[in-house]
Amino acid sequence: MRIQPARRVRGELRVPGDKSISHRAALMAALCVDERVRVENFATSADCAATLACLQQLGVSVTRRATTIEITGAGLRVPVTPLDCGNSGTTMRLLAGLLAGHAFTTTLTGDESLRTRPMRRVIEPLALMGAQVTAHVGDRAPLVVVGRQPLRAISYALPVASAQVKSCVLLAGLNADGRTEVIERTPTRDHTERLLRWFGVAVETTQKELGGADVQTISLAGPARLAARDCIVPGDISSAAFFLVAAALLPGSDLIMRTVGLNPTRTQLLATLGTLGADVRVEDVREQANEPVGDVRVRGGLASPRAGANVLRGSVIAGLIDELPILCVLGTQLAGGLTIRDAGELRVKETDRIRAMALNLRALGAEVEEYEDGLSIAGPVQLTGARLAAHGDHRIAMACAVAALIARGESEIAGADCVAVSFPEFFTLLATVVES
Ligand code: S3P
Repeated sequence: MRIQPARRVRGELRVPGDKSISHRAALMAALCVDERVRVENFATSADCAATLACLQQLGVSVTRRATTIEITGAGLRVPVTPLDCGNSGTTMRLLAGLLAGHAFTTTLTGDESLRTRPMRRVIEPLALMGAQVTAHVGDRAPLVVVGRQPLRAISYALPVASAQVKSCVLLAGLNADGRTEVIERTPTRDHTERLLRWFGVAVETTQKELGGADVQTISLAGPARLAARDCIVPGDISSAAFFLVAAALLPGSDLIMRTVGLNPTRTQLLATLGTLGADVRVEDVREQANEPVGDVRVRGGLASPRAGANVLRGSVIAGLIDELPILCVLGTQLAGGLTIRDAGELRVKETDRIRAMALNLRALGAEVEEYEDGLSIAGPVQLTGARLAAHGDHRIAMACAVAALIARGESEIAGADCVAVSFPEFFTLLATVVES
């Protein structure tokens, strides 16, 4: 993919449905036995298509017309072949939780990247619940899940801030023999909780003090049945993020993103952009299937960052986890640059995102220092077009594309077609708002 510098971005856009919510909607709809659930604005991402394909292998009926899907569950059936989760960590970790509570054996596999990602984080709690999950080598997929019905209800303190692990345990809890509780020190995205409530499951979230720290506990009583209910998926704020940052970086830009998901566990980006000097406004907030949505407008140009805003660390990191690559690009243009710490999780995403961003930004002429848990980017610097590499990671490809818009001269991104993992329309939509 070759990208030319842009003068500004202008117009109105709608991004496809949220990937995290689409996975969950499909999995939960499949649990509504003998009832049809219609999900509108389902994500167009390859990741969510992998979830649908796995469900079909489990005997779930799925029909799809454009972005509307209809799912009719009939109880999950033993699949004849391993389930292929593709590139999708969410598919593998959430499905492992769901299948752990079914008394049969399933193999979950995925592409080369997914087979290198850590799975101990789901193997451990599922073993405590009485399922047997074995990994191929170390804690890597393929995973063989020997389910058990019912599972033992547990109280589990998350060792890593991960919505996937939280969701894995809660989905397993649907088939447990009592109250399953997850304790989070750092709140992570709560789409599982919200959507379970939408499907009639009483999920309780409470704040308490534990060992001197404020924690959040999320619990539900098993066994629980879901009640079929149609739903509509908000636009994916993590996809919108690339456009919002592009608009902020290019003076004269004016971009409106319509019907974007504004769940407070996902909007840290908007707050962070504001403190870093961007002009971001949220308009017309409303609710859809238990999730807030609204329009987000960004006008181009950056004011000076607020004091202390150039360092992102601690509790904000979980809320920004998927936006950190694009924030690295913004960092190159900030007075005072940008430092990101406490983000070691970036090293175990679809690729090592710390390394990949450091390499790409250096190729563009930025000065980057890498740490085990983050990076420091000097700013502001004029970037120069370069040969960049997606490293097989959709968010790295899109972050590179935005960096290329603000660089001097042409850039080329190797392997950019991996954007399809979350956002197949990315380059087409970008072309509709870019002015050169
Ligand atoms: C996701 C949770 C996050 C995020 C991923 C989607 C989810 O992963 O990075 O893109 O849908 O629950 P972790 O749970 O590993 O932090």
